[in-house]
Amino acid sequence: MRISQAPEFGGRHWAGGLVLAALVGLIVGCSSEPAQFELNRIAMHKSEVSLGANLDQTYQIDPIAKILDETFGTPDNPIVPEVADIEEVMDIEHLKMAAGPYGSDEDGSPRGLYRQHCVHCHGITGNGAGPTAAFLNPYPRNFLTGKFKWKSTRTGSPPTHDDLKRVLVNGVPGTAMPSFALLPEDEVEALVQYVKYLSLRGELERNLLLEFSDLDTSVVKPAEKRSQEEEEYVASLSPEDLQEEKEDLDAAIEELTDPEVVLEEFLAPIVEGWAFAEENVTEVPEKPEAELAESIAAGRDLFFNKGGCATCHGQSGIGDGQTAEMFYDDWTEEYYDPKAPEHLEEFLALGALPPRKLDPRNLRLGNFRGGRRPVDVYWRIRNGIEGAKMPAAQQLSEEEIWHVVDYVRKGLPYDTLSQPPEHEQENVRVRN
Ligand code: HEC
Ligand code: HEC
Repeated sequence: MRISQAPEFGGRHWAGGLVLAALVGLIVGCSSEPAQFELNRIAMHKSEVSLGANLDQTYQIDPIAKILDETFGTPDNPIVPEVADIEEVMDIEHLKMAAGPYGSDEDGSPRGLYRQHCVHCHGITGNGAGPTAAFLNPYPRNFLTGKFKWKSTRTGSPPTHDDLKRVLVNGVPGTAMPSFALLPEDEVEALVQYVKYLSLRGELERNLLLEFSDLDTSVVKPAEKRSQEEEEYVASLSPEDLQEEKEDLDAAIEELTDPEVVLEEFLAPIVEGWAFAEENVTEVPEKPEAELAESIAAGRDLFFNKGGCATCHGQSGIGDGQTAEMFYDDWTEEYYDPKAPEHLEEFLALGALPPRKLDPRNLRLGNFRGGRRPVDVYWRIRNGIEGAKMPAAQQLSEEEIWHVVDYVRKGLPYDTLSQPPEHEQENVRVRN
């Protein structure tokens, strides 16, 4: 018995070993596959829709991918591009902490913070479409356009370092964006820099796409990829013209892919905006001394009249103003035009999130996503909310904005409009 049992036991052991070896192989196999940034297919398809033609793989798509790899590296091995003022924006030590797979290196410094904390919502490229995103409202921010909502700078300027840090530390109350207040200072720094890295990369990609979309590639496209119009155009060319067109195209591509042109013409202007964002911070004048009740009353009048706030936020402030049915944020309007929805299915197939209507906020709830300090609310009203259709209140003076701030923070949530009408005395049952 014993003798016959031994090999059987050994046999099982061996089989177990095989399974283990296979598992190890699988795990190693997976992790040795380097992570890749996927291209912004949605922006590409948008170009294709407006061109009425396909982009060419060899002459347009591949060169963009190559430039991005050479300029920014990969999700595991980030590169700090060599462009003016970049040191104001990011450094390789912090990027390395945020990039790559989650873990730590020999000296114990953390690695892969972005994949540990952010990727499931914001996605590996920062397109805001990680696996959790579809379940959230609002959707996680898409960093690729470089637009942010909760910032101190005027519309069109990137946020400051402190703005992003504030968002990370406080989270965005009332949304799925959590607070990372418990992370050590240098980890927050690494993550802030990584957000900038992904934004710069995304913005460069968009600039490149604009340039490359301008090239007429009909002469080099495989015939089956040509649109009817392109086909007719190519057929109309003499062999000499055809040759000339090809040469012109090659020359144009050579110029566009020249690293110096890429860095100086397409990337430097974007970096400059981020490096000097501080210069675009909207100054907040000191709050004028005023009786609170009076300021609230003045703010209330401005809210409903001169300020035009009720047109979106509604007569009772619950966000039901008469704004159009078709109200979407800028990130959604990238791929969804409610007036011409016929292309939506194509974008969804490329991974776009189903459009969600943007609602003007219910201000009765007293929830301020961008921070509830008076200065935060001042910035919101003075500058509007970028990407989210709320306009800057240019028609209001500084003093008037302060009144509206008082009304929105301290008056509106308690405004009688929200209270049930008082009962007439005779309707109240007298108990005794
Ligand atoms: C559970 C999902 C989730 C996780 C995890 C998450 N976020 Fe967010 N994040 C969101 C959502 C949702 C928003 C959009 C909030 C809004 O539109 O007001 C957002 C917005 C942002 C914004 C934009 C703020 C602005 O001013 O527009 C930044 C920056 C950001 N997140 C960074 C991060 C970073 C960095 C991490 C990881 C450390 C992270 N987020 C983790 C869901 C998430
Ligand atoms: C064209 C429509 C529109 C107008 C006009 C408008 N808003 Fe808004 N407002 C919005 C939308 C949409 C949001 C929600 C944005 C988001 O959370 O993405 C919002 C959000 C807000 C918030 C919340 C900010 C936060 O931190 O969460 C405040 C406060 C606010 N609006 C005040 C005002 C005031 C005061 C005015 C008038 C001076 C005004 N709004 C005019 C559309 C509008």
